[in-house]
Amino acid sequence: MLNDLRQEHSAFLIPHSALKLNTMISKKLAKAINDQINAEMWSAYLYLSMSQDIYAKGFHGIAHWYKVQFLEEQAHAAIMINYLHAQDEKVVLAPIAKVQTSWKSVLATFEDTLAHEKKVTAMINNLCDIADEDKDRAAANFLAWFIDEQVEEEENARDLVRQAKMIGDHIGGMIMLDKELGAREYHTPAPLK
Ligand SMILES: [Fe+2]
Ligand SMILES: [Fe+2]
Repeated sequence: MLNDLRQEHSAFLIPHSALKLNTMISKKLAKAINDQINAEMWSAYLYLSMSQDIYAKGFHGIAHWYKVQFLEEQAHAAIMINYLHAQDEKVVLAPIAKVQTSWKSVLATFEDTLAHEKKVTAMINNLCDIADEDKDRAAANFLAWFIDEQVEEEENARDLVRQAKMIGDHIGGMIMLDKELGAREYHTPAPLK
């Protein structure tokens, strides 16, 4: 009887030292998320800069779209800050590097946006790789939201490039696009609600 019980609950009889307890975030992943917070803030600053350049070119609606993007990137940083707090890790803020301040055209700005988002996707994938190495289920779960978010970010940027290429030098088309992008609303991302 006692033996049966022992066998039934054998999983609980494994000494703790024999179980790999991955309940804490690794120092490597905490550092990588800290670095990503800086990258998200840099993204925010980049989009604010693009917004200023486009505003100066007279496209106030597109400038507004980038201002919303600036808010979104700050939200991404805030989500990561909250996660490190939840994992009892200190957030260490690094300086934000300078950003480009002028682009040769609206299309060039859109193209840089797409290229930048692809880079960010690679960074998020790298965080996922570390979480996988660590067998850190909580981090993998947390990062899944960012994986989905990057699919959306790349799709949006690709859409802008496609539309600007179709419009070309047609000013009427640009004015319509400016009006459309000017209607963008900021929505608090789900993890911050
Ligand atoms: Fe982001
Ligand atoms: Fe982004």
